[in-house]
Amino acid sequence: MSTFPVTRLRRLRRTGALRSLVRETRLDVADFVYPFFVAPGPLGNDPLPALSRVTVEQLVAEAEECASLGISALLLFGIPEEKDEQGSGAWDADGIVQQALRAVRERVPQLVLVTDVCLCEYTSHGHCGVLDGEEVANDETLELLARTAVSHVEAGADAVAPSDMMDGRVGALRAALDDAGFEATPILSYAAKYASAFYGPFREAADSAPAFGDRRGYQMDPANVREALRECELDLAEGADLLMVKPALPNLDVIRAVRERFDLPIAAYNVSGEYAMIKTAGAAGWMDERAAAVESLTAIKRAGADVIVSYWAKELAQWL
Ligand code: PBG
Repeated sequence: MSTFPVTRLRRLRRTGALRSLVRETRLDVADFVYPFFVAPGPLGNDPLPALSRVTVEQLVAEAEECASLGISALLLFGIPEEKDEQGSGAWDADGIVQQALRAVRERVPQLVLVTDVCLCEYTSHGHCGVLDGEEVANDETLELLARTAVSHVEAGADAVAPSDMMDGRVGALRAALDDAGFEATPILSYAAKYASAFYGPFREAADSAPAFGDRRGYQMDPANVREALRECELDLAEGADLLMVKPALPNLDVIRAVRERFDLPIAAYNVSGEYAMIKTAGAAGWMDERAAAVESLTAIKRAGADVIVSYWAKELAQWL
């Protein structure tokens, strides 16, 4: 191998055209999924612009705009009018997400509509499953999640994304979807979802903070990567079609490890706290928001993500 002065890596960095020619990673709006929080009404004090709640009406208009910008998919979260112990609003045939799906499906058929399947926005206690004392009961929760997924697909979802981190949920969803005749509906599993401090703004927008305790009894310990691979292996065996790592930026090594081990499409969720850090630093004049966002999203893709869920999707479409 030749070295300096024969080899000069700066030669290919000299102009913008040269840099563009040899760029290894390029962002494409078509890789992006844009999240929405559908609710009966606005929150009033939304934490951040892209984390605002929308009504079904507003969502239809937003979806039309997203489609025209070239965004491929939306990820829908629902905030119900009423919460209860079981989270029964999650599988209500006339629930908020189900209404949203029917409305968008009809008006914007070209978008991929993905739904978050979890109970935390629907339970009065804010945990992702039903309680047995102060514990989240794993197996009792599976049936409720499966019911929720089927109701989403009946209302028009193209794919379901379980984010609860119960053991066996992918298998439970797969079986229930197949039983209901939805064997063609893919499951995007939040396979390696960490118990992260970066979900703060989301929990405010979704009103889903746990009323007691935390989620460390079901979400993953941020210190672990081998365990993430076991989660992915199990989800794959249970029938997952895509595997997601979440949050993205603190876990680029996990994205890379999952990419190298598995041949499924890999998704990464650039979560609310990652967005909030750069957004607020940009607003304060401490960082260039656009440059920092593009750099972060490029890093997520370079780490191995094929699909990126991000609150910047819409702005990115305008930037690219
Ligand atoms: C759970 C869920 C959460 C997020 C997506 N799905 C929150 C949690 O686990 O507490 C977080 C997303 C974000 O922070 O942007 N339904």
